[in-house]
Amino acid sequence: MNIVGKFKNFINKTLLKTPGVEFLRKNKDLNTRKKHINFWLNRAKKNKSLNRFFFTEASGDLRQLTYSRNDEDFKISNEMFESLSNNGLLIIENALPEIERIKIISYFDELKNNSKFSKKWLKKPHNPHFFNEVNEMMGQISIKNFQFLNEYSMKFSREIYGKIVEPTVEFRYLKQKNNTKEKQVRGATYLHTDRFLPHFKVYYTPFKIEIDDAPLEYLLSSHKINRNFINFYLNANNFDETDHQFENFKLDKKIVCVPKNSLYVAFTNGFHKRSQFNSNSERSLVFLQYVQRFNKLDYLF
Ligand SMILES: [Fe+2]
Repeated sequence: MNIVGKFKNFINKTLLKTPGVEFLRKNKDLNTRKKHINFWLNRAKKNKSLNRFFFTEASGDLRQLTYSRNDEDFKISNEMFESLSNNGLLIIENALPEIERIKIISYFDELKNNSKFSKKWLKKPHNPHFFNEVNEMMGQISIKNFQFLNEYSMKFSREIYGKIVEPTVEFRYLKQKNNTKEKQVRGATYLHTDRFLPHFKVYYTPFKIEIDDAPLEYLLSSHKINRNFINFYLNANNFDETDHQFENFKLDKKIVCVPKNSLYVAFTNGFHKRSQFNSNSERSLVFLQYVQRFNKLDYLF
């Protein structure tokens, strides 16, 4: 990356970064929190697309979460977007043509082997050491290398944010060290929220994910920004299931076990976690995130 690119990245990651819970961690005073949360949520609410997905009420009748791609020219139907708006989660099976799935597997092979990295990684893949009991290799790459994944990404970001936003793309290969159930880790295997502003991630797995392979767990409709949601952020300390106000979220939980070649979208301002690994398992998951390029400027102007 050239110097201008690096500078832009730096500004995006610091000055322009979408507010998370850092401010709330530093400020426990109720009124200070209220002002901060109201200010940013009012900005978000003005965006028609965000309003549709995050600020409308969830209805109990649209509960279908899983859809399947069955032709080459795959459309994300209005019903699917409605389901996503309602549940905060959408699963698409048979998501990519086999040729792109194979391509993605070849990238994971490099992470798995942890030897010569010959693909066009943005920087050398490394272990970020997030977990004690799990080895991880993470590589970042441009979405432009993956035509179909990029099409999904454009469709989702256009619908959810109201404009096409280029995602950061992380390939994460996780391999558990032991064969017993992993201990719980804060911010990962506790149900938690990522931020109070609308937030989403797209995930793609080339392989099936079963219960021992650390599937995503998601509390359906917990992304809806209503009185209960705001009340949680006004009072929370840990921003996870250990907070007292969590007991007000009596919602159904979905464990996202999926067949090979599945893509799913989750609104991660709602409650989610990865399940704990078991049986020396592994997981290969692509993460698309938008928060770096949909930032404060998009909320303010
Ligand atoms: Fe998270």
